[in-house]
Amino acid sequence: MFLRCFACDARYGDEPTLYTCRTCTSPLEVNYTDTEFRRAGNFEGQGVWRYQSILPVKRLVTLGEGGTGLHPCDRVGRDLGIPKLFVKNEGENPTGSFKDRGMTVGIALARKVGAKAVACASTGNTSASMAAYAARAGLTALVLLPAGKVALGKLSQAIAHGAKIAQIDGNFDDAMRLVVELSLEERSVYLLNSINAYRLEGQKTLAFEVCEALGDAPDALVLPMGNAGNISAIWKGFNEWKRLGRIKRLPRMIGVQAEKAAPIARAWRERRAFRTIEDPETIATAIRIGAPVSHQKALAALEESRGEAGTVTDREILDAQRYLARTEGLFVEPASAVPIAYLRKHRLKGARTVVCVTTGHGLKDPDALRTAPVKMHRIKPTLAALRKVLEG
Ligand code: F0G
Repeated sequence: MFLRCFACDARYGDEPTLYTCRTCTSPLEVNYTDTEFRRAGNFEGQGVWRYQSILPVKRLVTLGEGGTGLHPCDRVGRDLGIPKLFVKNEGENPTGSFKDRGMTVGIALARKVGAKAVACASTGNTSASMAAYAARAGLTALVLLPAGKVALGKLSQAIAHGAKIAQIDGNFDDAMRLVVELSLEERSVYLLNSINAYRLEGQKTLAFEVCEALGDAPDALVLPMGNAGNISAIWKGFNEWKRLGRIKRLPRMIGVQAEKAAPIARAWRERRAFRTIEDPETIATAIRIGAPVSHQKALAALEESRGEAGTVTDREILDAQRYLARTEGLFVEPASAVPIAYLRKHRLKGARTVVCVTTGHGLKDPDALRTAPVKMHRIKPTLAALRKVLEG
């Protein structure tokens, strides 16, 4: 196993505390030798650790992550003209988001390198996940959050698990810069953001699960992009599954961002160099990010898979959230409704089998439904009054 710079191809050994390239400071990628690939297999059990033979570390700390449902959504599929539509519901993970797949691997590395503490900047879910796994591993957790912009459910998790919480006067991108600085100065603090290539290895297992469940790769996989670690990890997963000879073709990767927090979709659409966005804004606070650290990897995934990137508005996101919950019984947080919102606007030509990744549980962000048009009834405890509600 070795590390490779995603931009300049520089090679390094197995160095879990090396977060970026020493030459060009770009993100790194965990790579495996041909021999390691030949030895991979023996997939047993369920969830992330089923794939231990192509992960960079042995299992140390687990809460039962991965193995989430791949739900056929025939009613939504019919509405959207997609013959086989599935939702891979990552809200079913132990802390309610896909972050747990990476965190079980990242925390194992933290223990391996003898870190005293782990740290991350977060829009909420990473901090919730890291706090839980750190608690289980007996490590101190430090989370940097954009003040006032983290959904209540996620904040509650960080509090419950006993993380040290720093609310930053600034946005996620400011918090990200700061935590990288800290991890370079304080070597006993292990950085668990998705810039950590080892953590992303856990997240690639979603691709393996989808292929095993379908018996093939889907035609397209649609997911939200924020810091862009997940699209990079999942694309890597599909490629490795193909290299293992388990699938013959690769899916198109469709990455979706919120309209006012869309630096990657903008670079893609306008076919020009990537530029950060100063003041990203969206109701989907999970993906309120203007300077995604994995933008190079994400753009490569879009390009290599002949995929596409696009945007949706906050209104479309909230509508899609309610639509999915009411039509299929799947309640996801706003950021996770982004793929469905996109498919309601855009047809994917020739895509028969489509997988949407819903990244986090709806209960993460109870305030998101505050503007939902609901009529609740306060009634006297009589059958007559209750009948009126039923018939109304
Ligand atoms: N969906 C949810 C629910 C998220 O929490 C995130 C990212 C994303 C999508 C985007 O994934 O960053 O890999 O492109 N949340 C991070 C966090 C930034 O701090 O919890 P990405």
